[in-house]
Amino acid sequence: MSRPKVLITRRWPPSVEAKLQALYDVTLNEDDHPFSPDEFKSALQNYDAVCPTVCDALPAEVLNVSNKRCKILGNFGVGYNHIDIHAAKQQGLIVSNTPGVLTESTADIAMTLLLMSARRGAEGDRLVRAGLWTGWCPTHMMSSDVTGTTLGLIGFGRIAQAMARKAHHGFGMKILFYKPTPAEQAIVADLQATRCETLAELLPQCDYVSLHCPGGADTRHLINDHTLSLMKSSAHLINTARGDVVDSKALIKALQENRIAGAGLDVYEGEPQIDPGFLTLDKVALLPHLGSATIATRTAMGEKVLANLAAFFAGEALPDRVI
Ligand code: DGY
Repeated sequence: MSRPKVLITRRWPPSVEAKLQALYDVTLNEDDHPFSPDEFKSALQNYDAVCPTVCDALPAEVLNVSNKRCKILGNFGVGYNHIDIHAAKQQGLIVSNTPGVLTESTADIAMTLLLMSARRGAEGDRLVRAGLWTGWCPTHMMSSDVTGTTLGLIGFGRIAQAMARKAHHGFGMKILFYKPTPAEQAIVADLQATRCETLAELLPQCDYVSLHCPGGADTRHLINDHTLSLMKSSAHLINTARGDVVDSKALIKALQENRIAGAGLDVYEGEPQIDPGFLTLDKVALLPHLGSATIATRTAMGEKVLANLAAFFAGEALPDRVI
């Protein structure tokens, strides 16, 4: 019997690619180039399973291609806002993702950005590299405390909770979170956290605000001129969620006008393009979407896709089925 045909849209960690090759008739993306819409359409017509990732846009006009062979999109990533889920459902496609395994690494990057923004880490590095450091002095690059301050989390899923644990138990931070529905009592008690029912309640109280909500139409520009105006002028904004949760222009303006103190960003509207307004601002720390980028995490994400494909081809329930 011939083996299922599987297409991987970008390079994956070598150990996972090797396992895929042992199990399936796999096509790898040898030169790791981003696929064009036509390449995606052809992939959907020629493979049983297509495995995209978070930088692959799969809108309805691609998913609706005729003569589809593909039955499953095994997404490498927990976020799936790059896939038009409504169109995928209408086309009878199964979609799986990779929750759980990138929780700690993504929360670590959120904490990294919080510390970089608070303590002017990126700015200090640039200064030293530019040969502009003239020596220690009492007023040089003074910054903001982290320990004992207040962190507000927007969204309270796995990654937000992991960040809250690091911030509360590691840095003695007070935890507030915004989540429309109540959270699990044991978790709230462990973190001595307080739930806020609105952003208007949460934002004015925070020294740091970290975004952990999914991307998509419901959360697009949740952070905008108005919500930024509710933050303290000494506060910092951290985004490891999705770029379009923040209105970039509004954030740049708020930073330029000193209406907030700083920002740490791992994700961007329209990434990998970055609004040039960010590049000239010293008070923003910029990372290239590194949240899950540890060897162990990226390997675990690949293993998750393998588990979902295995279940699919065995006719079993998928461990991480989105639709
Ligand atoms: C995801 O899996 O959605 C992350 O953004 C990748 O780091």
